[in-house]
Amino acid sequence: MRRARVGILISGRGSNMSALIAAAKASDYPAEIVCVIANRPDAAGVGIAAAEGISAQVIDHKAFGSKADFEAALAAALDAYGVEIIALAGFMRVLSADFIARYPGRILNIHPSLLPAFKGLDTHERALAAGVKEHGCSVHIVNAALDDGPVLMQACVPVLAADTPETLAARVLEAEHRIYPAALAEFAARLLAS
Ligand code: GRF
Repeated sequence: MRRARVGILISGRGSNMSALIAAAKASDYPAEIVCVIANRPDAAGVGIAAAEGISAQVIDHKAFGSKADFEAALAAALDAYGVEIIALAGFMRVLSADFIARYPGRILNIHPSLLPAFKGLDTHERALAAGVKEHGCSVHIVNAALDDGPVLMQACVPVLAADTPETLAARVLEAEHRIYPAALAEFAARLLAS
């Protein structure tokens, strides 16, 4: 069975990355994780991916004179691995429209809110401040606007009266780890069938 080639971009701890790597170990999973790239040298996920036997590297955005140069290096690395789908997993750089256009409809992201609510940062704090009773996470296709592309999958979690941003984040994160592998599997299977 051919499997779609996935590159994961991270900036930090990489728990969603780990969920994708774990799911892709199943022999019938329609995607394989061929590389992990972090834009920060201190991203804990790099060591975790390497320990899983996945090719993992740092491309430090601070080492480049411009965003275009950083993204050119990123694209060169992804293309060297024959990446067909890019999965953003806590990747904290906003990609340019030019970069996104190189991989049209092939970049996925996980966002910790029920999009289109709470785009951007600090979603759990903002959900609590707004008093919403349901919160959650979304896997979506990346387009040139922040946290804006078509939603592929969502999961809801309840907001409890005693929640803090931390307890709510932990509940949402569990849901993230469930839906990102499921959404990537559906997306990759569709790509392979197309
Ligand atoms: C997750 O909450 C994800 O939704 C957001 O950034 C966080 C990354 O966490 N985009 P991790 O690095 O996957 O643990």
